[in-house]
Amino acid sequence: MARWITQTALRTLRNLEVWVVNPFSYGGIVGNGAFCNRTRELADLTDMMKSAGRSFVYAERRMGKTSLILRALAKLPKKQFVTVYVDLWPTDGSAAFSQATAKAVSVAAESTSKRLLELGKSLFGRLRPSVSLDDAGQPKIDFGIDGRAVSRADLVEVLDAPQKLADKTGKTVVMVFDEFQQILDYEDDTTEKQIRSSIQHHKNVAYVFLGSRKHLLQSMFLDEARPLYRSAMHYPIGPIETKHWQPFVAKRFQHADKQIDRQTIASLCKRTGGHPFYTQHLCHVLWSMTETGEEANEADLDTAVAELLRRESHAYVNLWEAMTKNEQRFLRGLAECEEPPKPFSSDFTRRFGLRSASNAQRAAESLEAGDIIEREEASFVIVDRFFRLWIQRLFAN
Ligand SMILES: Nc1ncnc2c1ncn2[C@@H]1O[C@H](COP(=O)(O)OP(=O)(O)OP(=O)(O)O)[C@@H](O)[C@H]1O
Ligand SMILES: [Mg+2]
Repeated sequence: MARWITQTALRTLRNLEVWVVNPFSYGGIVGNGAFCNRTRELADLTDMMKSAGRSFVYAERRMGKTSLILRALAKLPKKQFVTVYVDLWPTDGSAAFSQATAKAVSVAAESTSKRLLELGKSLFGRLRPSVSLDDAGQPKIDFGIDGRAVSRADLVEVLDAPQKLADKTGKTVVMVFDEFQQILDYEDDTTEKQIRSSIQHHKNVAYVFLGSRKHLLQSMFLDEARPLYRSAMHYPIGPIETKHWQPFVAKRFQHADKQIDRQTIASLCKRTGGHPFYTQHLCHVLWSMTETGEEANEADLDTAVAELLRRESHAYVNLWEAMTKNEQRFLRGLAECEEPPKPFSSDFTRRFGLRSASNAQRAAESLEAGDIIEREEASFVIVDRFFRLWIQRLFAN
């Protein structure tokens, strides 16, 4: 009897806990416990970091770049590596770039106020470092370059700091620049040029450039006329395969005493294309709709998708109505083809009413520039996987 009570109580507690915390999260960085697979990518990136290589890692928005790279950095032994993560998202010019990079390098190497200041002065003397305490009482470093333009000499100092840090510590320094496409919006290409000329002399420093907006980034590394042409190995990150999602999703349902079979998970992944953000989002909704002790089936999946599309429909209607007819036809074609189509073939243009390859070309260019579609091998994908489902439904009857 006592044992029965304990088990029942435990089960109730477990249910209460999972009632509160949905095990599928979307939108933030995912780490331990919420991270699915990426074993091969982690191994490849770690090898590249260990050999102090340069790589340019690109993927569509929310494909899991930041989560992946932070996980790779966390796995590197601290005794041999100093890892520096620079988020360029808030930067708008070479001064902000210098500030963000100098800060990231300093805090990656030192944590006490005194040593932080010493290091700041030794690596970034030109940028007038100062140390203070933040609201949580933690030391933070700032540089006196707010609101002023940085000179080439300042940039050289910032970009040579990783090499100096590697020499000083005897460790390999791993520099990660996230949202690297931001530098395309800077006042000029001084930063891009200086990165090229500085890093080519560095030893024991690995560089990882991360970014979305593939078409812009690729031109940075593939266009002969650009400073960073062929300066880094390309490493694209794609969706996660269904066979990896199946145990990941099933386990999280089971833990809450809910069920979902492999086939339903496969069907879910087909709808999201295995894109991590959309897969987690759809799982989140499906999980919350499934009662404890119940199984989520194909019909529930349809309901979950309908609910998601209902929530987004206002935004999708506006987006759709702002498009030209040819853009709509092009998107319809992409949405309805099971496999990535050849969008400039006469088959495609005839079937979806585009009439000519040049009409299709123009539609593709403007949709790509607006980040609605991304180039994928010889075809394109609709970036927002739920928008794709919405378009499919629009023409379903
Ligand atoms: N390996 C993974 N396992 C499970 N979910 C993941 C994984 N990677 C990413 N996700 C899901 O995708 C979301 C976005 O991840 P993350 O922020 O790392 O992507 P990103 O490519 O850096 O996005 P952004 O383009 O916005 O910078 C996460 O919140 C999570 O829901
Ligand atoms: Mg990111």
